[in-house]
Amino acid sequence: MKFFLDTADVIVIEKFVSTGIVDGVTTNPSLLCKQGKPPVIIIKKICAILSGKPVSVQVTEHDVDAVYKQAKKIASIAENVVVKIPCDIRYYNVIKKLAKEGVKINATLVFSVAQGICMCKLGVAYISPFIGRIDDIAECGMELVEDLRRALDLYKFKTEILAASIRSVDHVKESILAGADIGTVPPSIFEKMLHHPLTEEGMKRFNKDWKKLNIDMFP
Ligand code: G3P
Repeated sequence: MKFFLDTADVIVIEKFVSTGIVDGVTTNPSLLCKQGKPPVIIIKKICAILSGKPVSVQVTEHDVDAVYKQAKKIASIAENVVVKIPCDIRYYNVIKKLAKEGVKINATLVFSVAQGICMCKLGVAYISPFIGRIDDIAECGMELVEDLRRALDLYKFKTEILAASIRSVDHVKESILAGADIGTVPPSIFEKMLHHPLTEEGMKRFNKDWKKLNIDMFP
């Protein structure tokens, strides 16, 4: 299971990359907009920090030809850029063409097994089911991840399932157990998932007992 950070905040990315467990980053227009700086500068910085690990950057154009051209431009920003394209029917041909040309694609806004399988058939590297947004409409986002896992295994697709729209530590746990290849985690959840009150309490207790020995050096 790989962990990506779902943010465009360079400071936060630097902080968590130093833990050694970050395998990539995903951004989207909303996340880049929050940074208040030119997106290309931010993307270049993130790609450098990630040194070779994948960084998803979403297209913002709508017209099919414009999406193709923009995807090529985004892909040329750095060698570890993955182009995020919504799995909308209008972009199927563009996705297929880009994938054939060797552009790594993250098909985003996946809400059904059928959409996921279609994207696999077009040759994308990643599919992103949006767990939280499915939960938002009173359905079960995690079921989609489980179903996609079964479907991709059944038909032997190599496309990776990137669980997105993660809203809680529980979502992270369930994504792991559902067989997602990757979970992209917002920083606030990432921070939480690294801690457990019993770990901290246990360390304090061991430390307290150890001090009772009152020795200078060990071993
Ligand atoms: O990775 C996609 C993610 O950023 C969307 O999350 O919480 O806006 O549904 P959310």
